[in-house]
Amino acid sequence: MKHAFSTLVLVVIFFSGNCQNPLFIPPILEGKQVNLHVQYGSMQFQAGGPTATIGINGNFLGPTVILNQGDSIQLSVYNDLDESTTMHWHGLHVPARLDGSPHNVIQAHTVWSPRIKVLDQASTYWYHPHLHGKTAEQVTKGAAGMIIVRDNQESTLNLPRNYGIDDFPIVIQSRAFDTNRQFVVNSADDHTLLINGTIDPILKVPAQIIRFRVLNGSTNRVYNIGFQGNQLFYQIASDGGLLDAPVALTRLMLAPGERAELLVNLSGLKDQSLDLFSFGSELPNGIYGAAVPGSMGVGSIDGYSANILNGKDFKLIRLSVTAPTTQAISTIPSNLISNKKPDPSKSSVTRIITLSTSGMGMGNLSGPFLINGQSFSMDRIDFSAKLGATEIWQISNQTAIAHPFHIHGLQFFISDIGGAAPDRSRQGRKDVVLVPAMQSVRLIMKLDDFLDPEIPYMFHCHMLSHEDDGMMGQFLVTGIPTGLNTLIDDPLIR
Ligand code: C2O
Ligand code: CU
Repeated sequence: MKHAFSTLVLVVIFFSGNCQNPLFIPPILEGKQVNLHVQYGSMQFQAGGPTATIGINGNFLGPTVILNQGDSIQLSVYNDLDESTTMHWHGLHVPARLDGSPHNVIQAHTVWSPRIKVLDQASTYWYHPHLHGKTAEQVTKGAAGMIIVRDNQESTLNLPRNYGIDDFPIVIQSRAFDTNRQFVVNSADDHTLLINGTIDPILKVPAQIIRFRVLNGSTNRVYNIGFQGNQLFYQIASDGGLLDAPVALTRLMLAPGERAELLVNLSGLKDQSLDLFSFGSELPNGIYGAAVPGSMGVGSIDGYSANILNGKDFKLIRLSVTAPTTQAISTIPSNLISNKKPDPSKSSVTRIITLSTSGMGMGNLSGPFLINGQSFSMDRIDFSAKLGATEIWQISNQTAIAHPFHIHGLQFFISDIGGAAPDRSRQGRKDVVLVPAMQSVRLIMKLDDFLDPEIPYMFHCHMLSHEDDGMMGQFLVTGIPTGLNTLIDDPLIR
């Protein structure tokens, strides 16, 4: 009876067009023992029937895991599926064997229990499966969740941090459905937007300074986020930590895998509504989500189909502004933390990493895409790097589309994008960088605390269709003192 009723409600919502659904806020999971159950589920996204999903402790997406820097945490991932999976702690600085790369497979109906020490700075991270060839499928069906790391520095700053009250997770995803209302993986017809799994969401927010933790959890799509009316907002964190100071913005481009924490001041807007948009009409050519260039590869998985979202401005969320809470902060801090970028003169190696395609001609949009001329192989270590080294990686994109490049296990800083210094919003700690078409970016990173002499770390394009297709490589860290590699249970206690 209840089921029939909710179907009816959804039918009404679906056909009336401008109705709104309350934004789903994933529950919090915290403590020293974190249990994640990867399970099949179903959700009613469309009129007429449910969609088969994969959720974590639920039907779609997973809980927001809150970790505190310095803690040792027992994570247990129960694979309740009839198929293999893995669980990657995207952005966390953990030894490769404790991270769910394609090498750490969790067989169907088994448990994987890595014990990690939280070394990361306060920021917004996430977790998702990473089984080679299956990542896009499992993430598309809903297997992903947010991780919030807290630390003492961030805690002393005057920032909103009441989860679901003035500090909100915003997971942006786009999906394609078939005529039976099931997800289509890697479809270029991904024009249904899900925010935290909610279609056409509305969120009640207090009339004060609020915080958004935005994750682009889409397979391929890039968003150009901003508010209606060019309402100013402030970016306070990038992928792996706070920025030196808040950066005032009206637009922020976010590629798959990237996160940003934003503050927006809604005081004075009580009883009004404000829409958060993606301004796709302003995206440069060659980006998944930009307008369709005249003659290029219609129907390809790289976004140059006639997808109705491409090149368009569209609403992500409607904010409905209510009375302020009693704990409102009254000003945006002028300084946050001081990031220490590695010194380029200390760098021992510059690695050239090329992104190319074996498709016809350099400009080919449909791939397959390669890294250093090769497709990923589980059995090939692409290079070794020395523990403690400072390295510069130059990522050269020789293709006609932008690729979001991600490295496991560390945070890097961007030295330049196409020869120009990154804007202030990209000067902080990062683990994904969007490499523009036919341009290079240079990254600088320090390989400290890497304690895994046997299991490689991955680097790859975070467009999941490209990653599954082989746009991925792996490196091993050498020079780890003997003895440390046996400390599997708590390898980071030194
Ligand atoms: Cu979020 Cu290797 O991925
Ligand atoms: Cu790519």
